[in-house]
Amino acid sequence: MRMIDVIRSKRDGESLSDEQIMYVIKGYTDGSIPDYQMSALLMAIWYQGMDKHETACLTRAMYESGDRVDLSQFGKRTVDKHSTGGVGDKTSVIVLPIVAACGGICAKMSGRGLGHTGGTIDKLESFPGYKTQLSRDDFLNQVSDIGIALIGQSGNLTPADKKLYALRDVTATVDSLPLIASSIMSKKLAAGAHSIVLDVKTGSGAFLKTHKQAKDLAKTMVEIGKAFNRKVCAIITDMDTPLGNTVGNSLEMKEAVEVLMGSGPDDLRQICTVLAVNMLEMSLDISEKQAQERVKSAIKSGAAFDKFCQWIERQGSERIYADDPKLLPTAKNIFEVKSPCSGYISHMNTEAIGICASLLGAGRTVKDAPIDLSAGIVMTKKTRDYVKAGDIIAYLHTSLQDVGEIIQKYISALKFSDICPQTHPLIIDTVKSV
Ligand code: URA
Repeated sequence: MRMIDVIRSKRDGESLSDEQIMYVIKGYTDGSIPDYQMSALLMAIWYQGMDKHETACLTRAMYESGDRVDLSQFGKRTVDKHSTGGVGDKTSVIVLPIVAACGGICAKMSGRGLGHTGGTIDKLESFPGYKTQLSRDDFLNQVSDIGIALIGQSGNLTPADKKLYALRDVTATVDSLPLIASSIMSKKLAAGAHSIVLDVKTGSGAFLKTHKQAKDLAKTMVEIGKAFNRKVCAIITDMDTPLGNTVGNSLEMKEAVEVLMGSGPDDLRQICTVLAVNMLEMSLDISEKQAQERVKSAIKSGAAFDKFCQWIERQGSERIYADDPKLLPTAKNIFEVKSPCSGYISHMNTEAIGICASLLGAGRTVKDAPIDLSAGIVMTKKTRDYVKAGDIIAYLHTSLQDVGEIIQKYISALKFSDICPQTHPLIIDTVKSV
């Protein structure tokens, strides 16, 4: 088999055979297929798509590309979550300790920033000393001792996705349904949890912008999970406005700590509660009402915050950063963004805002580049807020000296209107395996 023929078939709109997909994933993982050929195939898939059978086969090939975690010692209490990617999405860092404090078992692998979206692993690295890699034994012992561990994609777990994820990030091939579904599900299946809650984002800050695309993605991932005998629930949530008031790694971690301590922005708290409730319902087999009560009490009693501290300490950081998040990385410079006019903010192009954060230093433009953990945006006004011309609508945190163009880009991402826009539901739809 030759890679050039596989690329040509997909370019011409043909379905790839199981053998072709296996050949590609094996060859790319072992290095015999180079980045330039894989990039061409990714772009062909981006244009031509993949049918359900190809997507399932791609997922299986990626799942089988490395080791798999065996969590069977923990029974059916293991539960994982994954977001399809958004701007200001720091939910994993909040939801996991809540669920673990309520008796769920969370053994999770997360990724780095991708495209205009941030990644949980980059965010957690804001906590000095936090180890994103653990040996298999240390990972499992930690889960057994405290019910929670979160690491990056370790050496040999879905290595195919690890390589593809980084390549897609710099070849404009992230926003493709089969590539997103296979990337997420191969990782979730290999990570071994019995139940999986997927946060499928829709709107201007999501990779797939429309409700229909989000629903198709949700259904595809739920079906793949079912074929592997896992309980899967996909919750479609709004990403037409950044989540919470901050975008950027250490800024988001400060906000995550606020939510764990019982305050923080309403939208973020609401989504975290829904995700945690679904995770507990599925993993502990309890009713929605029981799960809601447990989540509420874990936050109110401080159990969720304590679990968070226990978790970051066990992974090499220190509780002091949670007790006093001002000690997290802080930007050298802070610039104001002022409203150019009076009126209601009627829309925020959330992808463009994610790109602004990335340009400030929070994201990557080339594979494996370092990022500035302190860079990002604090939004003081969001969609539906009324502003007067000259009011401060955001602060840009960065080590850059000149951010004139980024300020213009941020302002261009907003629309203003004399009329207050209607509210959108945050939780849009749910797809469950039956
Ligand atoms: N998250 C992933 O893990 N993979 C994607 O492709 C998109 C979001």
